[in-house]
Amino acid sequence: MSLSEKSAAIAAALQAQSEFPLLRGERIALRGPRDEDADALFALFSEPQVMRYWSRPAMRGRDEARALIDNIREGQQQRTMFNWVIADAADVAVGSCTLFQFDAVHRRAELGYALHPSQWGRGIAREAASLTLDWAFDGLGLHRVDAGIDPDNDASRALLHRLGFVTEGRQRESFFVGDRVTDSELLGLLAADWRARR
Ligand SMILES: CC(C)(COP(=O)(O)OP(=O)(O)OC[C@H]1O[C@@H](n2cnc3c(N)ncnc32)[C@H](O)[C@@H]1OP(=O)(O)O)[C@@H](O)C(=O)NCCC(=O)NCCS
Repeated sequence: MSLSEKSAAIAAALQAQSEFPLLRGERIALRGPRDEDADALFALFSEPQVMRYWSRPAMRGRDEARALIDNIREGQQQRTMFNWVIADAADVAVGSCTLFQFDAVHRRAELGYALHPSQWGRGIAREAASLTLDWAFDGLGLHRVDAGIDPDNDASRALLHRLGFVTEGRQRESFFVGDRVTDSELLGLLAADWRARR
């Protein structure tokens, strides 16, 4: 397949996702959001420990969680963002895992995630990110996945390095959260590296 055919195949694969792809793991499933996830998503995105290095301020009201669900649905419908809910064995939303900034021509996208602190340290985020990366590389045919973190976010860097991401650089003062500006540590994972680790 030529390079332009590969790019066209990715654009077509994205367009084919008329529903949220359901990604099932051993302990969790990644699924689209439901109206009844609003309370759990509010609990997640209002939690100071989760929002410490997040690119937006903590939520203050449930209406923001409902607006997020609308925004997630719109992103999926436009195929610009796939923001899955991480659901536990009881189908309760315990986190969020996102692929966004799709670029079919250069065959890449960016990865983001957040997990409720009650679930930290169990490998749940790793399982969620692995399901997403399998879908990104094998389902969509991406060549590369990017991630950007606050350089102080050690837990996120540890997760990314465990997945095989390599720190490739640092952008100075690239994120404003309120009146605070932070650098962004840039990481990347190539499809070939991901496949070699499995
Ligand atoms: C980043 C974040 C998702 C990482 O969560 P986490 O629970 O530490 O990550 P993992 O799911 O990979 O868990 C890894 C830990 O669980 C342990 N673990 C236990 N059982 C495990 C299993 N079956 N498989 C893998 N790891 C397991 C590992 O030993 C590891 O601990 P270590 O790093 O001390 O070795 C979490 O800190 C978070 O939500 N932060 C706030 C949001 C955020 O900053 N997101 C990133 C923005 S860029």
